[in-house]
Amino acid sequence: MMPTLPLHPYWYLLINVKTQPCAFTYKRTKTQPSHLHIYDKLNTRKVKLNNEVREMSEKIRFLLAKLDKADRAFCFSTGMAALAAVTHLVGAGQEVVSGNDMYGGSDRLLSQVLPARGVVVKLRVDMTDLSEVAAAIGPWTKLVWLETPTNPRLQISDIRKITEIAHAHGAIVLVDNSMMSSVLSQPLELGADVVMHSATKFISGHVDVMAGVLVVKGESLAKEIDFLQNSEGAVLAPFDCWVCLRGIKTMALRVEKKQFLLLHSSYIIFSNTIWTIHPYWCTSYQECDIINQIDH
Ligand SMILES: Cc1ncc(COP(=O)(O)O)c(C=O)c1O
Repeated sequence: MMPTLPLHPYWYLLINVKTQPCAFTYKRTKTQPSHLHIYDKLNTRKVKLNNEVREMSEKIRFLLAKLDKADRAFCFSTGMAALAAVTHLVGAGQEVVSGNDMYGGSDRLLSQVLPARGVVVKLRVDMTDLSEVAAAIGPWTKLVWLETPTNPRLQISDIRKITEIAHAHGAIVLVDNSMMSSVLSQPLELGADVVMHSATKFISGHVDVMAGVLVVKGESLAKEIDFLQNSEGAVLAPFDCWVCLRGIKTMALRVEKKQFLLLHSSYIIFSNTIWTIHPYWCTSYQECDIINQIDH
């Protein structure tokens, strides 16, 4: 039986704060499932609030999964938190293969944090060179980490071909799609297993929130990510879910407008060379070909 509360729940929590390490500690009964949040039991007003919070989070996850044609989507407190969750799929002794140009935070995570956990990181692979990628991926490779275009040098790599090589070795492929957004690139359609968006950028669109998103193909991988997020707790706060929902509504418009402006500015700069009239800063014909394949 649940104890009946003599005071308003807020008072109860305040008293608890003084005496217990966790303000939400409660005696559990046998019938009460362990994952049920304490808010569910305090009073009906909070149950309602909790349902609204859940609804918000479920709505955004549903939308994000739809945008990327994924099976499931997960929202994290930052892009780095999302990436860090993926690294927990790799155990000690297993390998991560990643590029020679990537966002500084990712580079730090891969070069300093993962090796301390016993993960082998092949860090400076040229991901634009398929033969170098093929040579780097081996039987111990668990994760191939792609950033395309890279930040800062905007290098483009071939997601489809790299995914084929990785899958042949039983590795999964993570694509950091922060620079493109799901409006411009759909890596899951090209074979990738997990895609990360730093929602701090295109999804939010107003520089007023920090958030990260993982979209996942395949139920078993989604279950693993779900478990990791549930265990580690780097979820996105309800208000931030709402801010991202607001951003999603205008994302396609914003991205397309930027493309339009960039297209026209590149036309002015490169009006003599037709192949460079492209929304991206392609540095070679090969990069333009890859971009044309993935850009919808
Ligand atoms: C390509 C890329 N990946 C990941 C991140 C990290 O995202 P966040 O700042 O949301 O943690 C960034 C941030 O600039 C980025 O540019």
